[in-house]
Amino acid sequence: MPLQSAFSRFTDGIRWLPGRTPLRVKLVAALLALVAIALTVISAASVSLFRDYQIRHASMQASDLFQQVQQDLSQPHTPLQPGTVNPLGPYVIIIRPADGRLFVPPGVTSLPKVPAQAAWLAANSARAVNVPAQSGTDNWRVITQQVTYTFITFSNGQPSQQRVTATLIVGVDLGDISAAIGQLVYIDVIVSLIIMAALAIVGVAAVRASLRPLTDIEHTAQAIAAGDLSQRVPDRDPRTEVGRLGRSLNAMLAQIETAFHARAESEVAARRSEERMRRFIADASHELRTPLTAIRGYAEYYRQRGGVANGSGANGSGAGRDAATAGPAAIEAALGDVGAISGTDMNRIMERVEQESARMGVLVEDLLLLARLDQQRPLELRPVDLLSLAADAVQDARMIAPDRTIDLAVESGTAFLVLGDEVRLRQVIGNLMSNALTHTPDRTPVHIQLRSEAPGPRPAAPAGREPGGPAAVSLPAAVLEVADEGPGLPPEQADRVFERFYRADQARTRQRGGTGLGLAIVAALVAAHDGTVAVDTAPGHGATFRITLPLAPETQES
Ligand SMILES: Nc1ncnc2c1ncn2[C@@H]1O[C@H](COP(=O)(O)OP(=O)(O)OP(=O)(O)O)[C@@H](O)[C@H]1O
Ligand SMILES: [Mg+2]
Repeated sequence: MPLQSAFSRFTDGIRWLPGRTPLRVKLVAALLALVAIALTVISAASVSLFRDYQIRHASMQASDLFQQVQQDLSQPHTPLQPGTVNPLGPYVIIIRPADGRLFVPPGVTSLPKVPAQAAWLAANSARAVNVPAQSGTDNWRVITQQVTYTFITFSNGQPSQQRVTATLIVGVDLGDISAAIGQLVYIDVIVSLIIMAALAIVGVAAVRASLRPLTDIEHTAQAIAAGDLSQRVPDRDPRTEVGRLGRSLNAMLAQIETAFHARAESEVAARRSEERMRRFIADASHELRTPLTAIRGYAEYYRQRGGVANGSGANGSGAGRDAATAGPAAIEAALGDVGAISGTDMNRIMERVEQESARMGVLVEDLLLLARLDQQRPLELRPVDLLSLAADAVQDARMIAPDRTIDLAVESGTAFLVLGDEVRLRQVIGNLMSNALTHTPDRTPVHIQLRSEAPGPRPAAPAGREPGGPAAVSLPAAVLEVADEGPGLPPEQADRVFERFYRADQARTRQRGGTGLGLAIVAALVAAHDGTVAVDTAPGHGATFRITLPLAPETQES
């Protein structure tokens, strides 16, 4: 069982090897394998051709020699006696008599082993055939034939003719050819190995250089995966595949980065708006709770005191505004009696309830207006004369604060007609005026200015702060400034005055102060009129609130 699982692991390993092997190793291995096959085929072919050629050549030589010996044997006085073994380099001439006795000269180590059977000799007569050596592993190529010739011998000085039958063998030792071929194969193998080694080195370097762009792409992908979206693949010649791939990848990465940033930005914006909404609801609830607490306090006080007394009470003086927010006990302390409520106290209580309700009503109206503006409901637009609105506002302010200097400066030669909702624009100017009167000490002068502004992109106002809203007005515009010589605001507060419920002096009592919605409403209303609002202020240098509204088309033409 373990043997089987080891075997299956081995076969799995082999099967998945190509998938696990790096591309550069595969390329170099494939190159080397192809070259090895090519070298082997070439070597085998050349060795085989060389061997054939050598054997053919040797056979021809042997055949020539054979014919020459045949001729010699046909001469009457041939010196070739039976048993002769005549070595001639790689060749040998043998006259083998019937008894097989040979006179082997000294130094001859190898001879062909030619069968003596008559059938074999008949079958291979005068043909070149291969036979083994009598000793060793060499081969011989031999031509054999039975010959009968006349041979002269001398006995006691007297020549006598002798007719003999023998086997003529002419052979060539193929061992030399084999040695030459062995040497050739040896050289082939050495040269092939050198070629393979050189090719492996060159191949590895070439493949590595060719795959470097892919390595760069891999590094870029790793850096991007690690979070650096700004990484790009190095630019290469677009005529190459890698160059084109790199360009496509870079284009794709740019799109991904843009989409990623857009998503991150929208997430941040969504979080911010959610946070703003949460704060807005919390602030609104808080602001509504104050008058509600006061009203409930008066109602409880009324109930606890058992209703209205018959006749007028002797108490009731000194019920302060601030006590109204502190509940029945404080009211009781303020009104100073424990008996039934007198008619005078009742009047005062109802007056306070009315005031608190009115305050709550204003707050709810403001919230409703802001909600409508957030929904971007269209306004009723009609030509409105900003000058008359400004003049009315100045007149109202002079009535409210007669001991202040409140002046109005108007640029001559322009009709300040804007397309807008008159009631809402009155509200805008009214809020600014009321701020100038509320948030500055008594007798502080207030200056209102009305002028026009040329079209085109406005120069960036260095000290001007604008709330987020529509783009700057680029048409001919009317500019209305409400400037006071009051305490002004530090930059960090000036940056936030247009936020909802923001009040520079958070400690100010809610009874006397506003809710902090006045400037938020101004900003929202001006934005709904395609205008902008900004503030220029510095501590000790007063505050100038500037609204810019596009002039009505008829004014622009004139
Ligand atoms: N002319 C000004 N001089 C100094 N501070 C100002 C001036 N106008 C506004 N501010 C500051 O900006 C804050 C926000 O003004 P905003 O009009 O929005 O609210 P508010 O006046 O406090 O309340 P509301 O207007 O809702 O009754 C004010 O609380 C005040 O601190
Ligand atoms: Mg205000």
